[in-house]
Amino acid sequence: MHHDCRRKVGFVPHMTIVLGAALVASACSDSRNAAAQPTASSDTDALATNLRPVLSMHDVMTHVFQYSADNVWRRQGRIYTTDAVVSLFPKDEEEWEEAEEASATLAELTNVLLLPTRMPDDKIWAGFVDELRQASIEAMQSAEAHAEESFFHAGGRIQAACEACHDRYLAAAR
Ligand code: HEC
Repeated sequence: MHHDCRRKVGFVPHMTIVLGAALVASACSDSRNAAAQPTASSDTDALATNLRPVLSMHDVMTHVFQYSADNVWRRQGRIYTTDAVVSLFPKDEEEWEEAEEASATLAELTNVLLLPTRMPDDKIWAGFVDELRQASIEAMQSAEAHAEESFFHAGGRIQAACEACHDRYLAAAR
């Protein structure tokens, strides 16, 4: 019963939601009002949940995924100069912890690509998302183990996962 009400809240025009829970609750208990709501299609189903995408796909990519992946990548690799090798890998427990957290953030973040309003209508998108998720989990686990080489390998796998999806979808988005 309560669940049904929450589903309908998604169909109430934005203004009504802004006015507050009391009004929404009364609209909910009004059966004539409820009957007047549009029937669910897959689009309105998406709106009926509590999911609220904040950014456009382009901004999610450039401001959220790029930022999050950079947080992993900048902790990897070595810079070779003529007389020295500078390691970018974490140097102590605290820095490995940060590398693990950056990877965990990226792993969880992949799920925002599966919001119904962001998913293209095909079956392969989710596979690209899953590869990015698995690569991020590999980075998280190798950071936890303080394993430089596998952490580095996972960073390459993350980049390949980004590029694989872009190869398929970037041209289409333009
Ligand atoms: C599941 C598919 C998918 C994955 C995985 C993905 N992207 Fe994207 N990315 C897109 C799409 C689609 C666009 C085009 C968005 C638009 O402009 O509407 C895009 C665009 C971008 C852009 C803007 C590029 C441009 O030239 O406009 C950047 C930067 C970007 N992605 C970074 C990343 C990074 C970093 C990763 C991996 C950590 C990643 N993306 C993973 C689908 C994906």
